Amino acid sequence: MKAAVVGSGAWGTALAIQLCKNGHDVTMWTFEKELIPQMENERLNIRLSGVKLPPELKISGDYACIQGCKLVVMASPSFPARTVAKAAAPYIDDDAVLVSVTKGLEDGSFKRMSEVVAEATGRDVVVLTGPSHAEEVALGVPTGCLAASEQKELAEFVQDAFMSDTFRVYTSPDPVGAELGAALKNVIALCAGITDGLGCGDNTKAMLMTRGLTETARLGLSLGAKKETFTGLSGIGDLIVTCTSMHSRNRRAGILIGQGKDPQTAMQEVGAVVEGYYAAKAAYELGKRQGIDMPITAAAYKVLYEGADVKTAFSGLMNRGRKAESEDAGWL
Ligand SMILES: NC(=O)c1ccc[n+]([C@@H]2O[C@H](COP(=O)([O-])OP(=O)(O)OC[C@H]3O[C@@H](n4cnc5c(N)ncnc54)[C@H](O)[C@@H]3O)[C@@H](O)[C@H]2O)c1
Repeated sequence: MKAAVVGSGAWGTALAIQLCKNGHDVTMWTFEKELIPQMENERLNIRLSGVKLPPELKISGDYACIQGCKLVVMASPSFPARTVAKAAAPYIDDDAVLVSVTKGLEDGSFKRMSEVVAEATGRDVVVLTGPSHAEEVALGVPTGCLAASEQKELAEFVQDAFMSDTFRVYTSPDPVGAELGAALKNVIALCAGITDGLGCGDNTKAMLMTRGLTETARLGLSLGAKKETFTGLSGIGDLIVTCTSMHSRNRRAGILIGQGKDPQTAMQEVGAVVEGYYAAKAAYELGKRQGIDMPITAAAYKVLYEGADVKTAFSGLMNRGRKAESEDAGWL
């Protein structure tokens, strides 16, 4: 099948390689036209170092490369997702299946990335997400992801396109839960990194991850997500991989912030898109709009956007009032 991956960051590149391995005829569109000669001639992409691009992978800086493709994968970061989707839209065939793999929420509108791409293109959009470091997927490390769509046949189409003996794809009818889990785990990973940078331990991280997932699910349920999605690959799965690995730029940025660097310096040092920074603002504002208590997200927002002292913010979380673990457990 003819396929296009729109975006040549680490994740777009890993997915383009995965589609090539599955025998598809793949073109990767790149925003960074200056990198095309190196990608074409040396088969290297500086966005995903240590990996050779397969000889059959085509590279283009022209959106027209999308024409004739039956699968179009939108793989930009979240901040330019609407602009990229609008520019790509005229070239997308009527019968093409559109997939969003971007993790984040749109600034201002708080929309999920599949909603943004759907609005910009006027098309249904499948979500592909899960615990998947680009560096590992590109090397064929066994990985599991989720293709989520309210339309079963679209989710199954994407499952078939990507599935291989090293890349398992499950289907899900819950794009809302899948995308909220994906976007908000980056905020929690940033906070997990901060606790590492502050010198806290494994106990701290386990508490943060668990309580972070609780507030993510709380927000998700208020927006129509299914509870079980948060205990699946796009929820707890992605949270585990992001909070515990040094592949995670969100966690690495958090470590630097916990060690005393200001957020902008930390992100510059990481040198790749730190989606948790943007997601913290959107999630904080969305939580307020929905009337949802999200203490970890609020603390992250204050550190990242209001210059709050990181130790004070963490201590504020530890000194919140006493409460039961679950709001709906009830005592007999
Ligand atoms: N890296 C991973 O392991 C991974 C895994 C799953 C999902 N994701 C998600 O995929 C998305 C892309 O992440 P990545 O890791 O590929 O990013 P990256 O940091 O590796 O690369 C960023 C890319 O964005 C491009 N870019 C910069 N400004 C742009 C603009 N104005 N318009 C269009 N493109 C622009 C750059 O050319 C570069 O190719 C993110 O939402 C991320 O959360 C990443």
